[in-house]
Amino acid sequence: MATNRTFTMIKPDAVKNGHIGAILQQINEAGFRIVALKYTKLSTEKAGEFYDVHRGRPFYDDLVSFMSSGPIVAAVLEKDNAVADFRTLIGATNPAEAAAGTIRAKYATSIGENAVHGSDSDENAAIESNFHFAGTEVFA
Ligand code: PPS
Repeated sequence: MATNRTFTMIKPDAVKNGHIGAILQQINEAGFRIVALKYTKLSTEKAGEFYDVHRGRPFYDDLVSFMSSGPIVAAVLEKDNAVADFRTLIGATNPAEAAAGTIRAKYATSIGENAVHGSDSDENAAIESNFHFAGTEVFA
């Protein structure tokens, strides 16, 4: 059964381009409740660890460099069917293929700089949330 939480990051491109407020508003209006929120910056080492599953893929170095290039917003979101519904809300990885109105269609600039991250499974949502937040920082 699907759990009711997912994890997201507003990536450095969207932060730099001034889209934090609009993205959080769209997330709220889609019915997600923010149960943890942090404005932070990943070191190269931490970004590498977060994306370790992609180590060895051709885009890994670029992804790690980009994700540690500036501040991000990390959040844990709650909603029924959170993981799948959030992936629908953000749209395809490549913004050129993202459905109209999705967060990536509106705010992403390229496949490498695609505005937001969304967990791809319940298991990874829990792992990624725990990577960024202590239990005492999550308010159900
Ligand atoms: S997969 O195979 O479904 O796991 O891969 P995908 O979800 O498409 O991508 C995984 C993360 O890698 C990022 N990505 C890229 N970064 C830079 N350059 C290129 N070409 C590229 N392709 C994919 C993509 O944005 C995903 O990051 P997250 O943070 O998980 O959204």
